[in-house]
Amino acid sequence: MVREINVSVDDLIYPLFVAHGLDVKLQIPSMPGVFHFSVDALCKEAEEVAALGIPAVLLFGIPDEKDDLGSEAYANDGIIQRAVRALKRAVPDLVVITDVCLCEYTSHGHCGIVRGGEVINDETLELIARTALSHAEAGADMVAPSDMMDGRVLAIREALDERGFENTPIMSYAAKFASAFYGPFRDAAGCAPQFGDRSGYQMDCPNRREALKEMALDVEEGADIIMVKPALSYMDIISDARGSFDVPIAAYNVSGEYSMVKAAAEKGYVDERGIVTEILTSMRRAGADLIITYSARDFAGWQAG
Ligand code: PBG
Repeated sequence: MVREINVSVDDLIYPLFVAHGLDVKLQIPSMPGVFHFSVDALCKEAEEVAALGIPAVLLFGIPDEKDDLGSEAYANDGIIQRAVRALKRAVPDLVVITDVCLCEYTSHGHCGIVRGGEVINDETLELIARTALSHAEAGADMVAPSDMMDGRVLAIREALDERGFENTPIMSYAAKFASAFYGPFRDAAGCAPQFGDRSGYQMDCPNRREALKEMALDVEEGADIIMVKPALSYMDIISDARGSFDVPIAAYNVSGEYSMVKAAAEKGYVDERGIVTEILTSMRRAGADLIITYSARDFAGWQAG
């Protein structure tokens, strides 16, 4: 009765990985319980996810071929575009959010156009906006840019509005730190940079004030929801965000946070249900309205009983 907050399945967003092929459900070795799905298998999974009461999924695509400009990211028949069309047909009430980035699609693994060993921010914006627009045209309910180029929220907003998608919201990865916690995801999505790292466009771990500045810029540019990522080691940033902005705040309980708990639970060192529930609760307590988590399915199952 006197509990200040609750974690509910309604607050959760479940990330899903989609790849080409038929009848594929392939476990990601560094993320037990997380799979690559082909579009048909993804639809089955999504039906179960919706039946558990999880309101939304966040889609990541694994392309057939990568190239310098990440062209499958914005191709009409790209993996995400196909998956979105199929999902909206199979499970119309499930909110489909798409990750908007180039790194899964580029041969060099960076989130933007690369020239002379540098990521070129302004030229990348056009491709990011094209990607977001192609997702909206396929039927995505919301787009979530994770590339961290400066100015991308505005570029996406303008591209969407121009084509009649004024009502498609943007959830921006606003304070996204260059983090070792993304390790298992990079295995899952095959998007580790082939040279250098992402510190030119992602944020530096010690910088708390800079995170506020990044979030303020995204809100100004028109972000409808702002995200803090990773979550577990960045609770102060979530709390700052809650105190400074009125838009909904999302926390991304990332791959490394998930895999550490899974590995320790498999060894019997910790109780998974207890740990996950406590982690999700702390994120809500810090100020997150929404939590993107690979544990959503497990958590919904525990709640169901
Ligand atoms: C792509 C992207 C990444 C994640 C989400 N989108 C990886 C990265 O930036 O290197 C990480 C998600 C996770 O670790 O669960 N830009």
